[in-house]
Amino acid sequence: MKRNILITGGAGFIGSHVVRLFVNKYPDYRIVNLDKLTYAGNLANLKDIEDRPNYLFERADICDFDRVREIMRKYEIDGVIHLAAESHVDRSIKDPFTFARTNVLGTLSLLQAAREYWNGDWEGKLFYHISTDEVYGALELTNPEGVEPPFTTTASSSEHHLAYGRDFFYEDTKYNPHSPYSASKASSDHFVRAFHDTYGMPTIVTNCSNNYGPYQFPEKLIPLFINNIRHGRPLPVYGKGENVRDWLYVEDHARAIDLIFHKGRVADTYNIGGFNEWKNIDLIKVIIRTVDRLLGNAEGTSEHLITYVTDRAGHDLRYAIDSSKLQRELGWEPSLQFEEGIEKTVRWYLDNQAWMDNITSGDYERYYDEMYRNR
Ligand code: NAD
Ligand code: TYD
Repeated sequence: MKRNILITGGAGFIGSHVVRLFVNKYPDYRIVNLDKLTYAGNLANLKDIEDRPNYLFERADICDFDRVREIMRKYEIDGVIHLAAESHVDRSIKDPFTFARTNVLGTLSLLQAAREYWNGDWEGKLFYHISTDEVYGALELTNPEGVEPPFTTTASSSEHHLAYGRDFFYEDTKYNPHSPYSASKASSDHFVRAFHDTYGMPTIVTNCSNNYGPYQFPEKLIPLFINNIRHGRPLPVYGKGENVRDWLYVEDHARAIDLIFHKGRVADTYNIGGFNEWKNIDLIKVIIRTVDRLLGNAEGTSEHLITYVTDRAGHDLRYAIDSSKLQRELGWEPSLQFEEGIEKTVRWYLDNQAWMDNITSGDYERYYDEMYRNR
């Protein structure tokens, strides 16, 4: 079957993996990548597929309603996979307006453009919105039956896994966002569901845990720390490093998006996560060990770089996603164990230093500004 799919934010971290997967797997689909190329968007993330006949790129802002409408019409879009967003919590604390603009108004602009273009003919159409587990708020580090966390549980998945608390985020967990980032994502999720409930638009929302892997912008914990270790720079650990995050390899998220786009139930919500909770400081020690080993340094060489710094304002204590609905209903499961995923990730960043250096020097931004100035 032929399809014309608009992927927004395809030049970013997760978006580039989704674009790559769809372009490679579905030669009959036309994949249109709409991206503004903010500081986080980088076309070098898509070098390997940029010449494919089923791939097109449009530099546009999702907030530019007329442009989005024109792109929907021009490519006869029948499916939208919406990833474009401002995505970094620390930036949202400094500049919440940009987050409200892109994440809330930008999503509304896309929804409204799709509604106008599809004009009530919903057959074969889908608006799929990618969201985060952060909308659910923060979980406690609880201590059931006097057992010190972490403890193993089978309560939420078929496998035993380490957990730092009794509770998990489920699809019906009440939204309770704390950061401007998560508040803006929560708001956009509500708009997507409102477009289904009010106009009948076929929509799906998924909420995923923290992703890691190649092409992540080095302001996020894992690529930042790998790069800092390589340069012998301090590793700024917020607070005591006690916060817990639930990590998923980015290609497993992309596979889940593919599955849900094709087989997911319209108007439904799916949580995506790998039952893989880590306390930041433990994760950081794994990263240090892996980088040191791959660089040929003696074990423990870079431990002294750990530097405890002032905590992030409103820092959510624990995220833990229950993705058993997705596993049960659509048969998805993560393909990688965390140790393999981290090894692969560290290797990728060490092998692709030119990619990292290009970003940290700011060269790529100047290049795109020049290239697109008169378009
Ligand atoms: P990212 O910051 O790496 O990439 C965002 C992309 O969106 C960039 O290419 C950027 O240029 C583009 N963009 C930003 N503003 C735009 C605008 N106004 N118009 C058009 N394009 C714009 O983000 P990411 O980590 O890949 O996250 C992608 C999506 O997944 C986001 O919606 C995020 O909320 C969600 N998510 C991320 C994670 C994670 O761990 N990174 C986890 C769960 C959900
Ligand atoms: P991050 O990668 O920013 O993702 P998120 O805030 O969306 O979970 O941060 C992951 C965790 O690492 C989070 O608890 C904050 C912490 N952190 C640090 O301790 N130091 C850092 O320099 C960064 C960027 C994050």
